[in-house]
Amino acid sequence: MTEAGICEGRVAVVTGAGRGLGRAHALAFAAEGARVVVNDLGVGLDGAGGSAGPAQQVVDEIRALGGEAVANGDDIATTAGAASLVATAIDTFGRLDTLVNNAGFLRDRMLVNLDEDDWDAVMRVHLKGHFLPLKHAAAYWRAEAKAGRTPDARVVNTSSGAGLLGSVGQGNYSAAKAGIIGLTLVASAEMARYGVRVNAIAPAARTRMTERAFADTMAAPGGDAFDAMAPENVSPLVVWLGSAASAAVTGRVFETEAGRITVMEGWRPGPTADKGARWTPAEAGETALKLLADSEPPQPVYGA
Ligand SMILES: NC(=O)c1ccc[n+]([C@@H]2O[C@H](COP(=O)([O-])OP(=O)(O)OC[C@H]3O[C@@H](n4cnc5c(N)ncnc54)[C@H](O)[C@@H]3O)[C@@H](O)[C@H]2O)c1
Repeated sequence: MTEAGICEGRVAVVTGAGRGLGRAHALAFAAEGARVVVNDLGVGLDGAGGSAGPAQQVVDEIRALGGEAVANGDDIATTAGAASLVATAIDTFGRLDTLVNNAGFLRDRMLVNLDEDDWDAVMRVHLKGHFLPLKHAAAYWRAEAKAGRTPDARVVNTSSGAGLLGSVGQGNYSAAKAGIIGLTLVASAEMARYGVRVNAIAPAARTRMTERAFADTMAAPGGDAFDAMAPENVSPLVVWLGSAASAAVTGRVFETEAGRITVMEGWRPGPTADKGARWTPAEAGETALKLLADSEPPQPVYGA
């Protein structure tokens, strides 16, 4: 571990940190001096099952490198789990500075085949699994601010290109990940007064979520070539957003993959027309078509 990393003295919680991107983030926070709560339920790719193994393995890796970490096996999409997650940081390390919401799983189906259970499970783990840890961390940070110890706290949420642009076969996941952007904007506005900055990333990397579906783009190159899709390439921005250095940045969304960082520019008013009175449906349609002709064409939906 480095001597004076950018997260020295900070305590970071990373959800879903037993594997993939979360594991890379946890190791990267520890390498920058943070003490880390490694949360993971150890579930399968579709959310089934559970094991304490992955979280403990990452804790062991961090400790072997000289860092400090503790495992937490709570389900972040439950009130009790989210409360216990925040309590683990405070009870073990005495504070909480950074929350990285990352845990999740997939149940991909075309909408016509998507069961209500698969809808609920994916909305629950991603959207509620972001909201509940955020809420419990916010309650702690508000109490700190009210006690005169205004925090320098950070939240990094995990959206996806699927949430920003849509992705065929991922209606549940795309809706949840789009919801995370809305949640990020509101949390950023509500929590600024308590010293909390809230941003989101849309990552892409080789993990068990992507290594089969996008085998060609995700494959590791041979030899010394840059392994563009390694999850470790996403973590540096996450660590910076989770550090005190990012105080001027909030309510923003970044795409991050390989060696590239992109600021995503979201919804903003485009061409507009105002009749000053109610349109007829025919007029509304004619006007909509004229405005669309003057507007930027949308980005394509993934897989369309
Ligand atoms: N890999 C990509 O290219 C990519 C792209 C866009 C977004 N994402 C998002 O990044 C995040 C990490 O994904 P990944 O690719 O590393 O997947 P992953 O499957 O390797 O890791 C996700 C981890 O979350 C854990 N988890 C699931 N449900 C949980 C719960 N209720 N409580 C605690 N832990 C739970 C799993 O056990 C797993 O270890 C996810 O939110 C995913 O949607 C990934």
